[in-house]
Amino acid sequence: MLEVRNINQFYGSSHTLRNVSFVASAGAVTTVLGRNGVGKTTLLKCLMGVLETASGTIYINGTDVTGQPSHARARSGVGYVPQGREIFARLTVEENLLMGLATKSRGTISDLPQEIFTMFPVLKEMLHRRGGDLSGGQQQQLAIGRALAMSPSILILDEPTEGIQPSIIKDIGNAIRSLSARGDMAILLVEQYYDFAKDLADHYVVLQRGEVIKSGLGESMDDDNVRQYLAV
Ligand SMILES: Nc1ncnc2c1ncn2[C@@H]1O[C@H](COP(=O)(O)OP(=O)(O)OP(=O)(O)O)[C@@H](O)[C@H]1O
Ligand SMILES: [Mg+2]
Repeated sequence: MLEVRNINQFYGSSHTLRNVSFVASAGAVTTVLGRNGVGKTTLLKCLMGVLETASGTIYINGTDVTGQPSHARARSGVGYVPQGREIFARLTVEENLLMGLATKSRGTISDLPQEIFTMFPVLKEMLHRRGGDLSGGQQQQLAIGRALAMSPSILILDEPTEGIQPSIIKDIGNAIRSLSARGDMAILLVEQYYDFAKDLADHYVVLQRGEVIKSGLGESMDDDNVRQYLAV
């Protein structure tokens, strides 16, 4: 479980996150929605310990990790799929996946959870290709595979559908659904693609100008008119 309490963050004098609070529970998909520039990625970087927060508390599975560096958070079970994927273009698929094990001793392909290849068979077929030679959608699958290497209890995805072709968006949706159905993983999904988020979400949180302005059950997203917060 991931719990965020009253997070505030500043870039210089610009107050980017304002008293952000929410919970992402195990066995559920929690989606964070909001337009460009509202602070979604900033929030995730604070959760990962890449950015410092000015105030507030972050709990991972009940432990206060607010003062911990990002490698410690990765070790306590948080997998991160960054916006834009950020795979290593010059490394092979296999090497990219093994990078996900970096906080353990150097591993081999058999140390990876094999469900990565069940969900994304293309990664197995392309183990020896260079990351940069994969399509955007395949790179996104690789980034998700890399985040799953350490069997995280919390999986954080930053706009995984951005710039991805529909058939792969479907595969990614199915993967998120099956990971969630296992019941032991908390999934935090940042999205601007409303229909994708609505199909998957158990809970939703809407950010506007760094503030949570609305939250509720995924099944209420239409009734709560959440789509209006994404439309331009
Ligand atoms: N390193 C930085 N220094 C200063 N300001 C920043 C920095 N990174 C982001 N910002 C600003 O902070 C605000 C929030 O940015 P952030 O990237 O978190 O938004 P976002 O919701 O992820 O947007 P998008 O949907 O486009 O990815 C924006 O106004 C952005 O310009
Ligand atoms: Mg972003």
